[in-house]
Amino acid sequence: MVGAAAMVSCATVTRTVVAPPSIPGAEFVGNQNCAQCHAETVRDFKTSSHARLMAKGDNAVQLGCEGCHGPGSLHAQAGGGKHNILNPRRDSETCFACHLDKRGEFNLPHHHPVTEGKMSCADCHHPHKGSAIAGGGTQLATERETCGKCHTAQVGPFVFEHEAIREGCTTCHKPHGSVNRRMLTERNSTLCLKCHFQQQVSAGVVRIGGRDHAASLTRGSCFSGGCHEEVHGSNIGSSLRF
Ligand code: HEC
Ligand code: HEC
Ligand code: HEC
Ligand code: HEC
Ligand code: HEC
Ligand code: HEC
Ligand code: HEC
Repeated sequence: MVGAAAMVSCATVTRTVVAPPSIPGAEFVGNQNCAQCHAETVRDFKTSSHARLMAKGDNAVQLGCEGCHGPGSLHAQAGGGKHNILNPRRDSETCFACHLDKRGEFNLPHHHPVTEGKMSCADCHHPHKGSAIAGGGTQLATERETCGKCHTAQVGPFVFEHEAIREGCTTCHKPHGSVNRRMLTERNSTLCLKCHFQQQVSAGVVRIGGRDHAASLTRGSCFSGGCHEEVHGSNIGSSLRF
């Protein structure tokens, strides 16, 4: 049996401290031990976001590889194995131990099904090498890779591309969870009007993108009601209607 990590709060100070993950009967052995068999991972780890976890001193041992995988002595003695070491791909609790706020995001009404076990933090985050936020930045190239693995229809390519996509999927979507349907950052036309200026030209004339939208705005959000339903891009027309 392998136990998940737990968050404990320290009564004497206001900060919370994180209890390292535990595996009954196992002890912490340190990254150098792991390096015997996982040399490449240990070498690359220096470049990872989580390399910041590596402090100097005795406690550092528990915060390297074993901060996520739990104490590795039994695993190392056995020469490997799956049931004597934690793998956060199968259990996101390990990540929540340090990123407690993320549990709340995955409990919002519309969320990626990570806690349901249908996908893993590791589908979007690189634990061992380079930035942990794979494609979380503003580059389409990296998000095409991360989000496009599963959502091919939204990344295109399209004949009529919506330039907004270049800013990245997270311009409009929360990656973990949201109170809004489709995990949108805003539930209505505010989402679009952040970039598309709305101008009251005269009584009854509201101009957006060079056209009068007064009548359309009464029909619902920009991306519903038969308007710009193909927000990600279209192969039919630049108005992103179909
Ligand atoms: C003596 C060699 C050896 C050492 C030392 C070792 N491992 Fe492993 N490890 C293996 C082998 C072999 C596998 C593949 C096991 C399998 O597929 O059944 C493995 C698999 C794993 C896995 C994947 C388990 C899974 O769920 O599939 C993790 C995680 C892991 N090791 C972490 C570590 C960490 C962390 C350390 C250091 C504390 C470490 N290993 C030390 C040999 C080793
Ligand atoms: C931030 C948490 C975290 C840290 C720190 C971490 N790992 Fe991992 N490790 C993971 C996750 C998540 C997976 C599952 C990756 C996947 O399935 O794509 C994993 C998978 C593995 C595996 C299984 C094979 C693989 O690559 O999928 C091995 C072996 C492993 N880790 C070794 C290590 C070693 C050695 C270190 C220290 C240098 C380390 N890990 C540090 C989170 C971590
Ligand atoms: C032992 C504590 C600990 C564990 C366990 C842990 N993290 Fe982290 N994580 C950190 C710290 C510390 C940082 C750096 C925060 C900072 O610098 O602001 C971080 C940063 C991150 C970042 C942001 C990286 C960046 O470049 O800004 C991501 C994404 C992340 N962690 C994901 C994960 C995932 C996924 C897991 C589980 C596989 C995990 N973490 C497990 C402590 C942890
Ligand atoms: C669908 C992809 C996806 C999944 C699954 C995912 N993340 Fe993220 N995560 C992202 C993206 C993209 C960002 C960058 C945030 C942004 O740009 O708004 C991010 C940012 C983060 C950050 C750093 C910034 C912050 O908000 O504090 C942490 C920590 C993090 N994720 C932890 C996790 C953990 C823990 C899990 C699993 C329980 C997880 N993520 C699952 C895509 C994902
Ligand atoms: C490993 C596969 C995977 C990756 C990677 C992934 N997603 Fe998802 N996504 C899913 C699954 C599974 C669902 C839930 C679908 C369902 O419930 O029908 C989902 C749902 C969504 C939804 C809501 C769809 C709806 O019908 O309500 C949006 C929006 C979304 N993802 C955006 C993103 C973004 C943005 C990224 C990159 C940061 C991303 N996804 C990365 C698998 C993935
Ligand atoms: C300009 C804002 C915007 C950007 C950028 C954006 N989306 Fe969307 N996305 C939306 C809107 C609005 C919807 C909801 C459409 C509706 O009403 O169903 C949506 C819906 C979705 C859905 C649900 C299925 C569907 O097509 O309705 C998925 C999956 C999705 N987006 C993934 C992505 C991915 C992946 C990216 C990055 C390549 C991305 N989105 C970029 C606005 C955006
Ligand atoms: C991050 C900024 C941004 C966001 C958010 C955004 N757009 Fe765009 N959109 C652009 C840019 C840039 C262009 C190309 C220049 C232009 O036509 O204004 C564009 C072009 C368009 C076009 C094509 C205009 C034409 O006739 O060629 C439509 C339609 C459109 N956007 C609709 C939407 C809708 C609907 C939303 C909300 C779901 C939205 N946009 C959100 C930046 C954005």
